[in-house]
Amino acid sequence: FPKVRNICCIGAGYVGGPTCAVLAWKCPDIKVTICDLSQPRIDAWNSDTLPIFEPGLSEIVFEARGRNLFFTTDVDNAIAEADLIFVSVNTPTKTSGVGAGVAADLCYVEAATRRIAALSRKGAIIVEKSTVPCRTAESMRQILSATSPQEGAVFEILSNPEFLAEGTAVEDLLDPARILIGALDTPRGQLAQRRLVEVYANWVAPKNILTTSLWSSELSKLAANALLAQRVSSINAIAAICEATGSNVFEVSNACGLDPRIGSQFLKAGLGFGGSCFQKDIFNLIYLSTSLNLPEVAEYWAQVLKMNEWTKSRFTRGVVKKMFSTITRKTIVCAGYAFKKDTGDIREAPAINVARDLMEDGACLRIYDPKVTAESIHESLKGFTYIDWATASAAGPWDLPQAGTYTICPSLDAALVNASALLFVTDWSEFKGLDLEWWTATHAKMTKPAMVFDGRDILNTAECAHLRKIGFGVEKTGVGHAI
Ligand code: NAI
Repeated sequence: FPKVRNICCIGAGYVGGPTCAVLAWKCPDIKVTICDLSQPRIDAWNSDTLPIFEPGLSEIVFEARGRNLFFTTDVDNAIAEADLIFVSVNTPTKTSGVGAGVAADLCYVEAATRRIAALSRKGAIIVEKSTVPCRTAESMRQILSATSPQEGAVFEILSNPEFLAEGTAVEDLLDPARILIGALDTPRGQLAQRRLVEVYANWVAPKNILTTSLWSSELSKLAANALLAQRVSSINAIAAICEATGSNVFEVSNACGLDPRIGSQFLKAGLGFGGSCFQKDIFNLIYLSTSLNLPEVAEYWAQVLKMNEWTKSRFTRGVVKKMFSTITRKTIVCAGYAFKKDTGDIREAPAINVARDLMEDGACLRIYDPKVTAESIHESLKGFTYIDWATASAAGPWDLPQAGTYTICPSLDAALVNASALLFVTDWSEFKGLDLEWWTATHAKMTKPAMVFDGRDILNTAECAHLRKIGFGVEKTGVGHAI
């Protein structure tokens, strides 16, 4: 394999876009072409408004774009020119057929592999960047050798799972805790692995570049996400006990996290995890365990997902209960809709469950999020009635609103006029540290009794006390009422 000079990335999504943009920015000698079948997505990458929001990303893209970074829908040409190809397509959970609801749908990986087989250069290195089931590289190899027009072609496939977190993608990519590269233990496999190590070595310290077998690398990604999600479910299980016993989960997690064997990260109780990965990757692990005839293992990981679902519905049940067991035609403000701060992504966001459950119970929901597009909110709430902001805000307090509807609001302040409750659903920084004056003015314009439900640790203990003094009813997930 020659030194890598030309990289193609198939899939311009949340992973392919930022990963390869940073790579291009850090390696000006390498031509990087990110390609996708979606014309609107590529058009957005080539415009002033990128298709995804990540702090620091636009600066990097604007600097490298047109220099050594290119976005195109000409997938075939990008593959044909490349000496290293990242496969960064989506791997969602199957919705029908064998393994529906648990197995990964590998149709996009297979389609990309077939194009690579048909068009790639002799000796091109293929890299799995997508999160895939263990031993997917073997299936890819079979497809490549069986369908390539090259006589006796041998393809080298590496596994290089991505560990970035949305919202901190650029930071994670510039200074990764580790880069993992798995390869077959053959001279060719090892050489291909070295070529990819050389690319990352342009900005990542050698001690942070791990090389393993292909199968360990594939499994490590699933294991890492399962372990992270398990911490969230564990602390949420403790949160429920805290509420029932009058203790405070944030004090408990701080006390536990200071033990270095436990660690403080990812022990934040709240509304549960969201995002496109945790659920699907655990399903993937459950499917793998079941197919390996390990039902106890499958059940163990299934419980992590069960706890997450329960956490989300427990929040909604708590809201209904505290609002005198009826929320019909009550105006409830959903502050935040993204699955976490600093992203516009709502895939598997707890906000969707909360919004749907509250509307099914008759609430008139007002949604405000600084980054999520109206289009994606509509997509997630199909089947529910939308009332536009002009109509909703023109209605007086005497107009009986229609039960089970939603409105998208231009600001949090506007949303709160005549509202009965404010729900913190995403941990956006702009919701934190709102001063007393703001809270006093907000209380004055809300319908009484005005309630605040904090599902994202927005309010500290002193703020909760201040709010109660102003007259708010305050409920914070994981914090029981001390007696
Ligand atoms: P995404 O859905 O945002 O992007 C995937 C893109 O691939 C789409 O734009 C789609 O049009 C394109 N695509 C599909 N088939 C194609 C083909 N044959 N040719 C060209 N383009 C094609 O997905 P995302 O979030 O970027 O995830 C990609 C993979 O990375 C998944 O396996 C995911 O599990 C994994 N991952 C995601 C992370 C995240 O935070 N989103 C983090 C780490 C890994």
